[in-house]
Amino acid sequence: MIFINEGHYPSFHLTNGKLSYIFHVLESTQTLEQLYYGAAIKPRDNYDYLIEREVRPSNNLYQDTHTTSFEHIKQEFPVYGTTDFRYPAIEIAYPDGDHISHLSYVGYTQLSGKHASNLQPMLRAGEEDAATLIIHLKDNYSQAAIDLHYTIYREQAVIVRRVVVHNHGEESLRLKRLLSMSIDFPHDDFELLHLYGAWARETHLERKPLIKGVQNFSSTRGASSHAHNPFLALVAPNTSEHQGEAFGFSLVYSGNFLSQIEVDTYHVTRVSMGINPFQFDWHLDTGESFESPEVVMAYSSKGLNGMSQQFHDIYRQQLLHNETPFEKAPVLLNSWEANYFDFDEEKLLEQAQLAKDLGFDLFVLDDGWFGKRDSDNGSLGNWTTDLDKIPQGIRSLASNIQAMGIHFGLWFEPEMLSVDTPVYQAHPEWIIGHPNKNISHGRNQFVLDFSNPDVVANIFEQMSQILGSAEIDYIKWDMNRYISEPFSNFLKKHQQGELFHRYILGVYDLLDSIRKAFPAVFIETCAGGGGRYDPAMLFYANQNWISDDTDAIERLKIQYGASMVYPISTMGSHVSEIPNHQVGRITSLKMRKDVALFGTFGYELDIMKLSDADREEVRQQINQFNQYQSLLHHGDFYRLNSPFEAGLTAWMVVSKDQSEAIVGVYQSQASANPAYERIQLAGLASDQAYELLELDHESKDIPVRYGDDLMAIGLILNENFTGRADEYWGREKAGEYHSRVFYLKTKKG
Ligand code: DGJ
Repeated sequence: MIFINEGHYPSFHLTNGKLSYIFHVLESTQTLEQLYYGAAIKPRDNYDYLIEREVRPSNNLYQDTHTTSFEHIKQEFPVYGTTDFRYPAIEIAYPDGDHISHLSYVGYTQLSGKHASNLQPMLRAGEEDAATLIIHLKDNYSQAAIDLHYTIYREQAVIVRRVVVHNHGEESLRLKRLLSMSIDFPHDDFELLHLYGAWARETHLERKPLIKGVQNFSSTRGASSHAHNPFLALVAPNTSEHQGEAFGFSLVYSGNFLSQIEVDTYHVTRVSMGINPFQFDWHLDTGESFESPEVVMAYSSKGLNGMSQQFHDIYRQQLLHNETPFEKAPVLLNSWEANYFDFDEEKLLEQAQLAKDLGFDLFVLDDGWFGKRDSDNGSLGNWTTDLDKIPQGIRSLASNIQAMGIHFGLWFEPEMLSVDTPVYQAHPEWIIGHPNKNISHGRNQFVLDFSNPDVVANIFEQMSQILGSAEIDYIKWDMNRYISEPFSNFLKKHQQGELFHRYILGVYDLLDSIRKAFPAVFIETCAGGGGRYDPAMLFYANQNWISDDTDAIERLKIQYGASMVYPISTMGSHVSEIPNHQVGRITSLKMRKDVALFGTFGYELDIMKLSDADREEVRQQINQFNQYQSLLHHGDFYRLNSPFEAGLTAWMVVSKDQSEAIVGVYQSQASANPAYERIQLAGLASDQAYELLELDHESKDIPVRYGDDLMAIGLILNENFTGRADEYWGREKAGEYHSRVFYLKTKKG
C-alpha cells in the first residue's frame, strides 16, 4: 500500500486501488512537494511528470533560481517565512521572537497498522487493516523534529493524517499553530460542502462554490460545537449523491478546531484542518512532544454517498466502542421530555415497568436525580442521589428496574459545576474564569477546569461511586455550556494559551478512565444535543444524542446532514411527545417512528399517558425496529432525496450482500392535485428480483421488481403519496407530514 521510489530524494505513493496520494522530496530545498491526491493510479518509477513550474514574479528561496518560490510549489506541510505567503500548517515562535521556519526531509519509517496515542482518541488499525508511513522532518532553525503520520487502510478509500512535534533542543519552543494536515490541490474547480447549525438545528447542509481567498469555519467555544461540525468536503461541481468526485475531511477532535480553504490567485486550493490556532499557544519544553489530533480523509469517485459510506465503514469498524452489555442496539425510553425535573421513585418505577411490558431494553433516567436539582439552576458537580426524589437511592432503584428485566441508565454532566455544591464551596478556583473579571454563566452553570488533573480525579471518584455501587449499564454524558472566559487558576501564566486543548485532553482522560473502569458501560454522548457530535467523542461512545429537536420533520434535515459523515447507528433519535416540545408540530406516531427508525431508535415521551391503541402501536414499532436493526445499522446508507431541496425526503439502507434493503420516504408538505412521484433507488443488485413490502400496510399481493428498474425507473409511489387513492374523490387525505417505509428482499428461485 506504500510505494517508495528510493534515493536521496524519494517519492511516496500511498494507494489501495481506491485512491492514490503522492508526494516527493524536492532536491533543491529538501522539502516536501504534494503531487497528487485522487482516483487510484498505478505505482510508477518516476513522478517528475507531475511537477509544475512556471517562472513567476515572486520571491525565490535561492539566488540565481527563478522557480524556487514556495508560493508556487504545492506544499505537503507548509511553513511560513520561506516564500509561501499562504497560511501555513505549522507556526513556531522562536526564542528571538521570529516565526521563520524551514522543515527539511530527514527520512521515513514504515509500519503495519499504526501507533496508538495514550493522550487522545485515534482510529484503530490492525496490522492487516492498514499501513503507516512516518515522514521525519527537521527544523533547520531549531532542534524541533516533526513527524508526519499517514495511515492508509486496505478496505476503505481512506487516509488518516496527523503530526507529532518533538523538541530535542535546550530551549523551549512555542507552537502557535499546528494543524493536522494540509494539502494543495492543483485547481479550484470545487464546491465546498459543510455542516452548520445552532442548538436544536444542528448539522444543516450547505454547499457553495469556492471563492478566491480564504474561507473557513471553526470553533472558539471549547467544544466542536453546534455551530459548525469539524467536517468539510470538496466536491466537483457536477458531483451528486451518486456520481462524481468528493474529497471528505473529518477531524477527530472535540475542542476548538479550524477547517480552512485558501484558494490562491493561481487557482491552487489549499485545504487544512486541525486545532484552531486562535487562542492556542503551546510551550514545548526540552524533551517534550506535541501530538495533533487526526484527520480522516475519505475519497470517492461515486458521489457523496460513496464518500459518506467510507466514513461510515471506517468509523463503525475502527472508531466506535463496540463492547456493550446489550445483544443488539438497545431500544431505550429516556425520561427527559416525559418528566423533566418532576419525578419520584414511584413514577419512575411505573414508567420502567410499562417500558418493560412494551418491549424496551433500557430505561434512562435523565437529568434531575442528584443533589437538589428541581430546575436547571443547581447541583451540578454534586453527584449524590436526591433522596427526596429517590428515597432508597440509585442502587435500589437500579436493581428494582433490573429485576423487571430491563436495563437501567443514568445521566451525568461531568464537566460542569453549580455554585451550591460542596465542590464549589471547597474549590471556587476550580471553575474556568479569571478571578478578577466577570465570569458569565450559561444555563446557570460553570465549566470545571479539566486542565487540572485534581478536578478530573474528583469527578472520576464521584462518578465511580455511583457506577460502582449500582447496576448501571448506560451513561448519557451531557455538556451544556461553552467556555467563554478562558482562564485557568491551575495553569501558569505562560500556559494560558494551552487551556482549551488541555481542557479537552482532560475530558478524554475522564472518558478513558470511565471506559477502563467500566468497559462495557454503554455511553451516549451529548452536548445540549449535537454540540459535540464529532469522531473524538464517538471513540469513547456507542452513540450520540444529535439534537434536542425531536420533531420528526426537523429531524429529517438534521439526520440527513449528519449522515454526510456519521453512521446512522450513532444518531440518537427518539419518538417524542406531540405537540412537539420544540416546534409544537403534530405528526403521527407512525411518522415519528419512521424517522427515528433510521437512527438508534428510542422514545422520549410519557408512555403512561398513551392510549391502549398507541401502546400497542409502540409495541409493534419496537418489534419492527428489532427486526430491521441489523440491516439498518450495518448496511450501506444512501441519501436519495434531500430535505434541503424538496418537500419529499428519501433515504435507504442496503445490506452489504445486496439481498435486502429498507427505504424511508417522507412528505413534509402536502399539495393539492400533486404530480406523480418516483424515487430512484440505489445500491441494489441490478439483476436481482426483489419482493417489495410496505411496512405498516399489509398487502396480499407482494409486487416483485428488479434491481435495475428500481434504480433506473424508481419506486413508483402510485397510490398517491398524499393519500391512498381508494376512491375517486373520497380518498383519505394524509395532509402534511406523511411517511412510508418499504422493505425489499431478494426473491428466491
Ligand atoms: C440537554 C440534553 O440534550 C437533553 O437531552 C437533556 O439531557 C437535558 N440536557 C437535561 O438537562
